[in-house]
Amino acid sequence: MLQGASILLIIGGGIAAYKTLELIRELKKRGCSVRVILTKAGHQFVTPLSIAALSGEKVFDDLFSLTDEVEMGHIQLSRSADLVVVAPATADLMAKMATGQASDLATTALLATDKRVLIAPAMNVRMWQHPATQRNLATLTGDGVAVVGPNAGDMACGEFGPGRMAEPLEIVAAIDALLAGPPAMPAAAALAGRHVLVTSGPTHEPIDPIRYLANRSSGKQGHAIAAAARRAGARVTLISGPVTIPDPAGVETIHVETAQQMLDAVERALPADIAIFAAAVADWRVAAASGEKIKKSGGRTPALALTENPDILATVARHATLRPALVVGFAAETEHLVEHARAKLAAKGCDLIVANDVSLTGSGITGGVMGADRNAVHLVSASGVTSWPTLGKDEVAARLVQHLAGLGAQWA
Ligand code: PMT
Repeated sequence: MLQGASILLIIGGGIAAYKTLELIRELKKRGCSVRVILTKAGHQFVTPLSIAALSGEKVFDDLFSLTDEVEMGHIQLSRSADLVVVAPATADLMAKMATGQASDLATTALLATDKRVLIAPAMNVRMWQHPATQRNLATLTGDGVAVVGPNAGDMACGEFGPGRMAEPLEIVAAIDALLAGPPAMPAAAALAGRHVLVTSGPTHEPIDPIRYLANRSSGKQGHAIAAAARRAGARVTLISGPVTIPDPAGVETIHVETAQQMLDAVERALPADIAIFAAAVADWRVAAASGEKIKKSGGRTPALALTENPDILATVARHATLRPALVVGFAAETEHLVEHARAKLAAKGCDLIVANDVSLTGSGITGGVMGADRNAVHLVSASGVTSWPTLGKDEVAARLVQHLAGLGAQWA
């Protein structure tokens, strides 16, 4: 899909801008044409001359250039590409995109484009983790913007953590996946008038007032699904376990802690047309959680007796009167992925299982799927198995919502 593709690359002003020269080289090697908009801040890090030499194209940097407007207006520039890539996407550029500003050529082109946009964020770790940036990120993914990275590691500013721009080859892979897939933006009205229920995140099962059993789910996948369903016009209720990411815009979000609370909230939210269970619900809870902090005493290690939690997915899929027309479960597996997913499809009585490999190495995603930004899923149903390549979680969400909307004839 890269051969012959036309990419509009917007280079922001960050130290990672130097990596975009390599990105241009890799894209050209694969037969893409690359046009570049260089922001004012980007000029501080890379020169138009090196970009032009590598891309073989004139570099655009001025909104009010008479020559550029005569040769190719900024609207045309943003629409003649197959994909718009922003790298590095600085905190400032992300904020401008999220608020729809059009103060220079880059932001104007981003506002005017009718094509998919991929951002490769890069910034200091604290700036990345700041609630304002995370809010902007949620807005952008809610708008259908795809994201690659950032990666964690040593940063140019001397700090450590997430904020390093994805490597050029990772960005090339994300571009390839986006060009290969359907548009992330499901038809705006595909789920209009529908109620979609989504569970997301982990559950916390108390041991005593200060300790709990939990898992590594971040809520990123479930929240992305809720946002994608909202973009497709649905009324969305999201039941979320404890997470640190923001609630998706326009989605009624109910916060719970335990599996039992999640089940209660799900039952209260019914009826729904579609229910998607992406939460990593604890299979067990402590049978008799202590009301007081369990004290360390006499070298004795307390034994924790566990009892099984209710299965929320199976309860809803087998609901006598309020079963949604389409019930979708996830399967988090560390081995025999599709085989276990098929067993869950039957055991839980749902219509579709989205299977993902959550082992730390098996998924091929550094650090595993839980908590990460990317996922590789297999759709398992009675009619067979469809496997998607590794994609950003927002892209998985958009494709899933589009897939479910496409099944409308079967469930409407
Ligand atoms: O949150 P992220 O960091 O983005 O990670 C995403 C994810 C890996 C958590 C997500 O993609 C995923 O796989 N979610 C399901 C995790 C899970 O609990 O899988 P399971 O195989 O144990 O459960 C199967 C299905 O039953 C799931 O739909 C689960 O929500 C549901 N279930 C499980 C137990 C229970 N008591 N009630 C349930 O509803």
